[in-house]
Amino acid sequence: MTLTRRLEPELLDELPAHDPRARRARRDLARINSLFGLSRVMARLLEQHAQSKFPRTWLELGAGDGTFTLSVARRLAPRWPNVHVMLLDQQNIVSDETRRGFVALGWTVETITEDVFAFLSRAHTTPIDVITANLFIHHFPDERLAWLLERAAHLSNLFVACEPQRSRFAVRLTRLSWTIGCGEVFVHDAIVSLRAGFTGKELSGLWPRQDAWRLEENEHGLVTHCFAAVRS
Ligand SMILES: C[S@@+](CC[C@H](N)C(=O)[O-])C[C@H]1O[C@@H](n2cnc3c(N)ncnc32)[C@H](O)[C@@H]1O
Repeated sequence: MTLTRRLEPELLDELPAHDPRARRARRDLARINSLFGLSRVMARLLEQHAQSKFPRTWLELGAGDGTFTLSVARRLAPRWPNVHVMLLDQQNIVSDETRRGFVALGWTVETITEDVFAFLSRAHTTPIDVITANLFIHHFPDERLAWLLERAAHLSNLFVACEPQRSRFAVRLTRLSWTIGCGEVFVHDAIVSLRAGFTGKELSGLWPRQDAWRLEENEHGLVTHCFAAVRS
């Protein structure tokens, strides 16, 4: 039987950016992103769906410290030159080292410290080629998420998200993440995220104007759920 989608607050969203528990949880997150090869998965989806159209502008929603986006950028930069990346998060935590990482690729980087809904509700006149999210859009209930996806579809030609896969098995597996050294905040948030995650074609069902888009949605591995929407 499918686990019902359930939203609860995540500790990392509420802890001050410089709290040692928040720093530890972000380090754990980076380790888990790397362990599950999420930057490879995201890069593959972007490359596959962008096809030969090289994006010029890329907006990452809920980008955190930007290190995940940088690891995806490093995979794409040899084929995607001169991209302008916008890292949006409610916390301002992108380090100078991470910024230099983008510059070293020949890319430009901009950080936007704002609530995602406030940012997307402003009228944007310039289209954004690509919008992505990693472990972010599960934060929101269906109604708000449908609004967010509607704005993403309005602003861009390609949207890709890698999110938690909602299943009892994934929750059980994640309970064990303390055994590989993950801290309390990470373990709490990972379980909450999986219960708020997605399964089946739930994100496709929330995407607007499906006739004008090609959608791909599937599970990846044991804990990840991927969604891509490309304007046809
Ligand atoms: C689980 S973390 C993922 C960070 C990053 N994508 C990664 O994979 O390392 C979720 C991020 O969403 C941000 N966030 C949560 N709610 C937000 C909102 N309403 N607007 C903007 N950012 C938000 C948090 O600050 C946090 O950095």
